[in-house]
Amino acid sequence: MATSPMDKGFGQGSPELKRWAERVFAPEDDVLREIRERSVAAGLPAIAVGRMDGRHLEVLARAVQARRAVEIGTLGGYSGVCLLRGMPDGRLDTFELEPVNAEVARESFVKAGVADRARIHVGPAADKLRDIEGDGPFDLVFIDADKTGYPTYLTWAEEHLRVGGVVLLDNSFAWGGVVAPDSDGTRAIAECAQRLAHGGRWRATMLPTEEGLAFGVIVR
Ligand SMILES: C[S@@+](CC[C@H](N)C(=O)[O-])C[C@H]1O[C@@H](n2cnc3c(N)ncnc32)[C@H](O)[C@@H]1O
Repeated sequence: MATSPMDKGFGQGSPELKRWAERVFAPEDDVLREIRERSVAAGLPAIAVGRMDGRHLEVLARAVQARRAVEIGTLGGYSGVCLLRGMPDGRLDTFELEPVNAEVARESFVKAGVADRARIHVGPAADKLRDIEGDGPFDLVFIDADKTGYPTYLTWAEEHLRVGGVVLLDNSFAWGGVVAPDSDGTRAIAECAQRLAHGGRWRATMLPTEEGLAFGVIVR
């Protein structure tokens, strides 16, 4: 039990609290459940964001009144639908390396009734992001793809978000690896945290989801 702010838990993994939050907030409706299940049935890895993470994305998109958002790492479209639900008048550009994943996402966007507001770019995000640079500035960038690419994607976000725009980086605890990074992926994620915490145009924090959602805002 925490006894003072210094030793308060952060990112606690209590199954009871998880069940409680999901019962109270009911973050996953039938549309999202169908996307999750169809993605796995199609052979995609079961690595979409968690149910409460999906709700975080929707609410954060609403909080910044996002109208132009970018997602790096589409998979089957689960998090993309959450983002689009958070911006009823907004558009999403989402980037996915694997054509088969993009096909599943395309169907997800149709089934969720958001296909007219979603554009899927297929190929390596570091290259394909150039295609939309003329459309900025953007309100929100969600990074959830190859971990070694995170520093490049963070630079892109810093250059293309408006003042007050936000970046969100999933898996920012690197499954514990940020404490003592020992691989290219964990070093890349730890580097992003350092940059968000200490550099550039960012004011940032960590949302203590199970996997860590780094959250930065562009300041003047
Ligand atoms: C964790 S999954 C994304 C999950 C998705 N955001 C969701 O919650 O529904 C990561 C995705 O990034 C894609 N990916 C990996 N490397 C990529 C790259 N260089 N460019 C674009 N997408 C990439 C993978 O194919 C995979 O579909």
